[in-house]
Amino acid sequence: MTTLKEAPGAPPFIVYPGEPSLTVRIMEAGLMPLLAFVPIPHAALRWYLERDNAAENERGWERLRDVNEMGRYQVVQGYIETFAPGGAVLDLGCAQGILQEGLRYGAYTGLDPLAETIETARGREDDRTRFVVGDAAAYVPDREYDAIVFNECLYYFDDPVETIRRYRSFLAPDGVFVISLFNRLWFSRRLLRRLPAVGRLAAQTRVYSRQGAGWTIGVYVPGEG
Ligand SMILES: C[S@@+](CC[C@H](N)C(=O)[O-])C[C@H]1O[C@@H](n2cnc3c(N)ncnc32)[C@H](O)[C@@H]1O
Repeated sequence: MTTLKEAPGAPPFIVYPGEPSLTVRIMEAGLMPLLAFVPIPHAALRWYLERDNAAENERGWERLRDVNEMGRYQVVQGYIETFAPGGAVLDLGCAQGILQEGLRYGAYTGLDPLAETIETARGREDDRTRFVVGDAAAYVPDREYDAIVFNECLYYFDDPVETIRRYRSFLAPDGVFVISLFNRLWFSRRLLRRLPAVGRLAAQTRVYSRQGAGWTIGVYVPGEG
C-alpha cells in the first residue's frame, strides 16, 4: 500500500491495493464514458451498487480512499468550507466518514445505514463530531445544519429529489445542499437535470479521474429554485 498523504487530520488517500471490484475493472477498461449512454433502470443500478457497497464494507472501503477519488472529496470539502465556514455539517450516506477526516467544521454528523461502518467511524467521535446509524430517507435531524451533504448516495433513494427536498426544513437560514453524483451514469445525467428543483445552483465543478470516471459536484441554495 502506498500512502500519499500522511498530514495529521488529512484523509489517507492511497493507490488502491486490493483485488479490483467490477466497478474498478470497468474503469480500468476505459468503459466508464460509455456507461453514460446505457439506460440502466434505477432499480438495477441500485441493486448493483448495494452489492458493491456490501463488498466494499467487507474490505474496509479502500476503494473510496483511492487517489483517483481524491478530487471529488477535495471539491466537496472546499464547497462546505466556502459556503458554510465553521458551520454544522450533516453528511448523509457518510460510510466511514472519509469526508470528515479532512474537513474544518463547527459540528459534524455522519449518517449511514451500515452499522459496522459507523462503528469504525465512531472512534473519531468528540464533542463536535458524531456518527449515527440510519436511513437518510427517514432520518429526522435533531438540529439545523449549515451544509447538508449527499456525497455519492442519491442512487439509493426511491425518489432522490423528494429526499433532498425533505431536508430543506433542517437547513439553517443561508444553508446549502452539497451534492456529488457520479456523472458517467444515465441515471445521474437525468437526475442532474432535475436538481434545480431543490434550489438554485450556486457552484458546480466536474472532476475526472485518469480512468475516465467522472463526478459532478454542485452547491444548491434552496428557496430560490
Ligand atoms: C458510495 S458510498 C459513499 C460514501 C461517502 N459518502 C463517501 O463519499 O465517502 C454510498 C453510501 O451510501 C450509503 N447508503 C445507502 N443507502 C442509504 C440510505 N438509505 N441512507 C443513507 N445512506 C445510504 C451506503 O451505505 C454507502 O455508505
